[in-house]
Formats: sequence, C-alpha cells, structure tokens
Amino acid sequence: MTEQRLPDPALVVLVGASGSGKSTWAEQRYRAAEVVSSDALRGVVGSGRHDLDASTEAFALLDQIVAGRVRRGLTTVVDTLGLDADRRRGYLDLGRRHGLPTVVVAFDVPPALCRQRNAVRDRPVPAPVLAQQLRTARSVVDALAGEGWDHVVVLTDDAPAPAAPEPAATPEPPTGFGVVLQVSRFPWGEDPAGWLREVALAADACGFAGIALMDHLIQIPQVGTAWEPIPEPWVTLGMLAGLDTRLRLGTLVTPVTFRPPGITAKAAATLDVLSGGRAFVGVGAGWWEREHAGFGLAFPPAKQRLDALEAGIETMRALWAAGTKAYDGEHVALPETTSYPRPVHDIPVVVGGGGERRTLRIAARLGDACNVRLTADDADLDHKVAVLRRHCAAVGRDPAEVEVTVLDLPVVGTDRDDTWERVERLRGRTAAATYARAHHAGTAAEHRERYARLAERGVGTVFAALPDLAGPDDVLRLGAAVQSV
Ligand code: CTP
Ligand code: MG
Repeated sequence: MTEQRLPDPALVVLVGASGSGKSTWAEQRYRAAEVVSSDALRGVVGSGRHDLDASTEAFALLDQIVAGRVRRGLTTVVDTLGLDADRRRGYLDLGRRHGLPTVVVAFDVPPALCRQRNAVRDRPVPAPVLAQQLRTARSVVDALAGEGWDHVVVLTDDAPAPAAPEPAATPEPPTGFGVVLQVSRFPWGEDPAGWLREVALAADACGFAGIALMDHLIQIPQVGTAWEPIPEPWVTLGMLAGLDTRLRLGTLVTPVTFRPPGITAKAAATLDVLSGGRAFVGVGAGWWEREHAGFGLAFPPAKQRLDALEAGIETMRALWAAGTKAYDGEHVALPETTSYPRPVHDIPVVVGGGGERRTLRIAARLGDACNVRLTADDADLDHKVAVLRRHCAAVGRDPAEVEVTVLDLPVVGTDRDDTWERVERLRGRTAAATYARAHHAGTAAEHRERYARLAERGVGTVFAALPDLAGPDDVLRLGAAVQSV
C-alpha cells in the first residue's frame, strides 16, 4: 500500500470496521489533540471507552470539538467507525464551509484480519456486530468516490506506510541552489562575538550557503522589541569574515537611505577582499520611517527612495568596475571611479522587495537577483516571477541573469508536536492555523522537500530566517533541512 501525500491542515474522516486499524493509523501521523475519537470521548463523559450508554453525549461532544477545530482551520481527524452516511455528509459540509480540504481514509482490510485483531482485544466487539460493520464498510468504500471528498484514500492492507517521505524521494535541486541563513535577531546575551561565532560556525557546518544580516537601526516590531540589539551589519560581517568558513556574507537588505551608496560600495568591496570573494549586497528602498527619524536620516517619499535605489546600484557597480575612468550612467555621473581595494569577484546585488511596478523593474534592469517575501500562497511567488520576467523582456535582459531569491521565515520543529508548540509560542495574536501557514510550520524533512519544490519553481536561493533563532542549536535544527538539499 502506498499512501498519497495528504493535505495539511485538513479535515480527515476515518472509515472502517472495528479493528481495521483507524486509531493506530491516526496515532502514527497526528498529534493527540488532532485526533477526535468517539471511543476516547465515551471515556471522558462515560465510564470508559466501551461505555455504549455514553454514546449520545460522546458524539455530541465530538461534533462540538470537530466544529470548533475546523472553524479555526486546525487539522482534525475524526476517529469513529465512519459508517454513517449522514454523519459523513455533515463533516464534508463543515470542512467545505470553512475552506479546509476534506479527506476520507477508508480502512478496507481483509475481514479475517479484523476478526483476528478483534478476538485478541480486551473487550472484543461481538462477532455478529463486527460482521455487520464489515459488510457496511465494504459498501461504504464503494460509495466514497461519489460523495465529493477532496481526497479519498483507501488502505487495503495493514502495512503502515512511512509517515515521512523517504529522503531519496525528494528531487535534487539544480546545482547552485542554496539556503542562506538570514539573521534578524541577536539574542547574544553577555557574549555578542561568541554568539555570532557559534551561529556562523553552525551554519557553515550544516551546509548553509551563507549568512545575511538584516540592516535596521532599531529592531523592527515584526522581529522583536526596540531595545533588543541590532548590530551595524558591515562591522558585523567584517567579524564574520575573519572566521574560517566558506559562508557567503552580505546584507538582506540594506536600505539605500542609510548610507551614501559609494560608502556601501566601499564597505562591500572591503568585505569581499577580506573574505576572499564572498561578499554580496542585498539592497532595498527602505520602508521604516521611525528609524530614519531617530537617526537623523532623511526619509523621502517612495518614488524618490526608488530613484535612489536605482542610482545607488549604478554607483556601486561603477565603483566596483575596473579602472578609474569617469562614469556617465543613466542616473549617475562620477568624475572618476577611483576606489581601492577593488572587489576580488563580481559582487552580486540582490534587490529586495516585491514592488511590481518599480522594484522588480529595477531588479530586472540592474540586479543579479531579486528577493521577494515568501507567503503562504504559492501563486504569489509565481506571480512575482512572471512580473520579473516581463520586466526583463521589456528592458532586454536575459531572465537567466536575474536570480529569483525568496525570504522564508520557517517554523521548524523536531516533530509534529514540537512544531505545534513552537507555533503556539510564536503566533502572538495571529490564529495558529494562519501563522502555521505563513511560516510553513513543519519538520526539517518537510522544509527540505519544500525547498526542493521551490528550486523546481525557479528559486535559486532561499534566505531563511528563523523566527525563534536563539543560538546555534536552532541553526542546526533548520540545518537538517539544508544539509540534504
Ligand atoms: N493493529 C495492528 N496493526 C495495524 C493496525 C492495528 O496490529 N497495522 C492492531 C492494534 O494494535 C490494535 C488492533 O489492531 O490492537 C486494532 O487497531 P485499532 O487501530 O485500534 O483499530 P480501530 O480501527 O481504531 O478499531 P476501533 O474501531 O475498535 O477503535
Ligand atoms: Mg479506534
């Protein structure tokens, strides 16, 4: 029996005679709280799992719990016999009403196996009752295809399929695909340099392609509180360059409003020289007025900031190019371009932001890469990539020259329970299902598979920022996903 990949979250309704293996299957795949079992609720409202007198109340509770979870978009497994067509219809309607994929899993196991398992249980179901269940189950299995479920899974024997896909099943991403650790929070306690060192060494050890530092003057509310440390990135990258790693080093992203672009060009060229050609520059238009005001920096309107982004990239490229001759570009003129040391490799410029009219056009014209925030919806990325491609065509740029990169904020758990605890801890006031979706909450194996799929969709680099990065152990937790990519 091979098992197809089921949607998650989903409403999963189990169907099968007693002893067909429903509860066992659910327990192997889902968190205890996700499985709502009529037997267990008989034990809650009645004397025990077999207290049939408590059935009416147990099912009333079950319906209430299932409705509450489905309304919240939470994965729910209905563990009952599932043989009643009206009840199935009710679950199907409920799932549809709340936009949760509906799955029915039927356990069509050989009757002899059911009887055999039943016989050795503490309180076997009477033989005639089981016989009736088996007959009904058989006819229900045939009816399921016509009931309207999003997925119908019929399990025909008792060999449990692997819960997680085998590593070998994941397609190999193309060469060049990499995951860069984006560090946006710095809970370094009393030992800033030691913390940075350990985080970087962990990232290098488990195969990250690089480290990108967020560039803000005050910690942004999306990440932490304003009094948490947020170091100047070029100084910090200089320190990281001194470690013995292969990590590429850069910003994601530096606002063009913070430093005159010539100064950023100088910093990046210096970093490139000191790191042996590992520097990159992620650059954007800036967005947070407060940090500009607080640091005495101008914060012009968006159009001017985007003009500055365009001019800034031109300036950097002019100062990195060979020679010292005057530069006369589209937006910038420099009387000379004398800037030494010159970088030791072509420093990639990653243009941050998904603005469709200007930002992606700037990326198409001047960037080596664009960077867009990954959302819960796959279609968003495909749309941004299509817009980028159109801009490339309009400005006569080969789209292969502009790498698509994404900013991903994954919640990574060691297993399903741990993943969910992290979601609960991190979600603030956001509904858990919404938060889990936006952060693609899952195990390292699930992220690994997701990254392989992103590579297939044309993504060259994932910048991954852990919302709960506290230290090197967290890097290693995500590293399990990266190593195997
Ligand atoms: N079992 C097994 N191998 C499986 C599945 C189940 O040996 N692949 C055993 C279980 O250990 C259990 C019995 O078969 O002792 C019944 O399995 P269970 O999952 O409890 O079956 P259910 O369909 O949940 O039965 P019920 O409707 O009575 O709850
Ligand atoms: Mg059961």
